[in-house]
Amino acid sequence: MNVGGILIAGPAKSALQGSVTVPGDKSMSHRAVMLASLADGMTEIHGFLPGEDNLATAQMFVDMGVTIDWLNDEKTSLRVHGVGLHGLTQPKAMLDAGNSGTCVRLMTGVLAGQSFTTTMTGDASLCKRPMKRVVDPVRKMGAEVEGGDGGNLLPITIQPAATGHPLKAIHHISEVASAQVKSCVLLAGLFAEGETTVVEPRPTRDHTERMLPLFGQPVHVDDEGVIHLNPTGKLTAPKQPVHIPADPSSATFFAVAASLIEGSDITLERIGMNPLRHGWSRILVDMHAKLELENEGQVGEEAVADIHIVSQKLAGVHVNPADVPDAIDEFPVLFAAASLADGVFELTEAEELRVKESDRIAVMAKALMAAGADIEERTDGVRIVGGRLQGGCTVDAEGDHRIAMAMAVAAQCAEAEIIIENAAAIATSFPDFVPLAKQLGMNVDWKDDAGAGAGNAHGTSNHE
Ligand code: S3P
Repeated sequence: MNVGGILIAGPAKSALQGSVTVPGDKSMSHRAVMLASLADGMTEIHGFLPGEDNLATAQMFVDMGVTIDWLNDEKTSLRVHGVGLHGLTQPKAMLDAGNSGTCVRLMTGVLAGQSFTTTMTGDASLCKRPMKRVVDPVRKMGAEVEGGDGGNLLPITIQPAATGHPLKAIHHISEVASAQVKSCVLLAGLFAEGETTVVEPRPTRDHTERMLPLFGQPVHVDDEGVIHLNPTGKLTAPKQPVHIPADPSSATFFAVAASLIEGSDITLERIGMNPLRHGWSRILVDMHAKLELENEGQVGEEAVADIHIVSQKLAGVHVNPADVPDAIDEFPVLFAAASLADGVFELTEAEELRVKESDRIAVMAKALMAAGADIEERTDGVRIVGGRLQGGCTVDAEGDHRIAMAMAVAAQCAEAEIIIENAAAIATSFPDFVPLAKQLGMNVDWKDDAGAGAGNAHGTSNHE
């Protein structure tokens, strides 16, 4: 677990005003560096998220012989000198995914296709999260995987299929709606003989499917939503740089804060508008939030827009279960919104929240209850009766970045400040959260410099 880092948050002293650009999309940053490393040629990437999670992915490729040139000190622009699908070299030590489920699960697909053995591990939180969902399909494809609890727990060791034999293509019917599982199978499919197909119980974020064609690898989605990948045998670096839009998941914290704090009027610029990432904005609009799109455009294969938000009294809703995968990372802050809304908010069919960076149902219920919310924890969701938050308490983010930021937003509308412990994990996805929140007018700060420096803890290096 990413321990330490104490935030002191709220109550808000003023309305939020101004425009900000939140950092690049986490999901797309992972995929961009992975595909660029596996491509022939050099890929330039702009708008990369320099969070600890994405730097862990970049470091894995550096550890396997890829050269990455950072083009600025902020590490948002880089050149990746791809080594081709078969050009990675065996790392000298265990690969470390840190806190990142996306890194470890997608890399399971990449490593299954290599001709050498690798072991991956992660931090205490990641070592508790289920890996069977990606281990089972790559085993079916011919890779051998060993790990705790029958391969379900990190560290896992991935051995290639028997020498001289590529992976076997599979038709994978995923039991969970998970873009990580789908992407793992598609990435392994790049190394397989024949067509790999994936069926999902509900559609999930499709950044892998959208990005692979930029690298010369077509992906076809049929009328039934089945995803087909016929491997071309190589990826080719795109001639144009890959631009990554701003992360809609990071934008949600400020969108909710601006909705809740009376008199607020903010704009969040160049946000990725992929509908499979916008369950949160649909839910927020159902809760009566005032969100308007401006400057709608396109970046590569992804839609972008500025989102203009003005404050509005929110109301509870029963979340449509079909929206759950499209809002899976945003529920902690939506729970904060619901605690301050009029009426009842109900979420069902969201048991996946229990296996995220923390058990987000239990940890949010505990934190919001300590702040005075009326929240009932259920196996697959929550029921929240909105009202007021007293605050005046200390809560534990349990090393989960989104819990820490969600509670910082909740605190803005609490009657007394909330102290949020173990918040340093914010650096995994949104290292600049505190300065940007302050720029907009939120009342939040690190208790000391420990949290503020956390973003620099995990740099990449081309030196061993
Ligand atoms: C992600 C998929 C989601 C999400 C995670 C990022 C991705 O996980 O929660 O933060 O980039 O593919 P699941 O696939 O487990 O739902």
